[in-house]
Amino acid sequence: MPSNFPMARARRLRRTAALRDLVRENSLVPADLIWPIFICEGRGISEGVSSMPGVARMSVDRAIEALRHAFDLGITTAALFPYVEREKKSSNCEEAWNPDNLVNRATRQIKSALPDMAVLVDVALDPYNADGHDGLLRNGEILNDETVECLVKEAISHAEAGADILGPSDMMDGRIGAIRKSLENHKFQNTAIMSYSAKYASAFYGPFRNAVGSGELLRGDKKSYQMDPGNSIEALRMVQRDIAEGADIVMVKPGMPYLDICRLVASSVSVPTFAYQVSGEYSMLQASSLNGWIELDAAVAESLLSFKRAGCRGILTYFAVYAAEKILKNN
Ligand code: PBG
Repeated sequence: MPSNFPMARARRLRRTAALRDLVRENSLVPADLIWPIFICEGRGISEGVSSMPGVARMSVDRAIEALRHAFDLGITTAALFPYVEREKKSSNCEEAWNPDNLVNRATRQIKSALPDMAVLVDVALDPYNADGHDGLLRNGEILNDETVECLVKEAISHAEAGADILGPSDMMDGRIGAIRKSLENHKFQNTAIMSYSAKYASAFYGPFRNAVGSGELLRGDKKSYQMDPGNSIEALRMVQRDIAEGADIVMVKPGMPYLDICRLVASSVSVPTFAYQVSGEYSMLQASSLNGWIELDAAVAESLLSFKRAGCRGILTYFAVYAAEKILKNN
């Protein structure tokens, strides 16, 4: 038992920066951060995303420059999201498994320019779906098993392009097992799966849907497949199921409003737990800072550290490069 005041004085170890550094339980390094980026067609393009100040959609050549800089800062993994042109979207989503689609071309070029950088590719139909959903929409219903067949084809095309990690973000049932089995059968036994296991139906994805151009197509919501924000025990069932089906990493999304879930999951499973600090969390912090209401560097540092404290091994964040440049260097 710790002794009582005045034998115990907590402020003794808070007195100087050296002492605080000495006893800090959690810290951040650039390798904790995974940088999600938006890729578009063309050359020399870097166009700002209006809903996410400081974030741009980049053509592959520009993305490679930006990723080289990120890698030099110590960020070892990037997550790719394609901005797919309207005419390539359909209700059958075939573009998702086209070997030469934008994200597959980007993956090949990034892996050849930066072979030591890990590339994570999202597996979901929404960038390719004329209906804006993560699954096939038929008669007002999102089909599960038919969607999983599409996701398997999509996953294999991304593995063939050289993705190191696949991130199924769709929340259909049975997709991790089906993808893992197909990867084994196609001799992609080394392709890792980071499952979006506890992905909640959240209002915080709004700015992302604008960035990938799916927002205006989406009718209704994603509540029939993403998790209900009132649930936490269900998150455990989801991560256990996904690990049993072959996930190497499990992820909780969104991040800050779900830190309780991060802690619950990280304390319960023995695979790495990641969190996704999503677009709405990013834009809230940026908007506050642009209004002069919050000090961005300190708020970003504190928000990222909260994920480490909650037990997360990795954090997907649009602040990755900003944090590595502005915050971690001064630590
Ligand atoms: C869709 C997907 C979403 C995000 C990543 N993959 C949005 C959604 O489920 O509607 C959100 C990321 C973010 O908000 O930053 N498969």
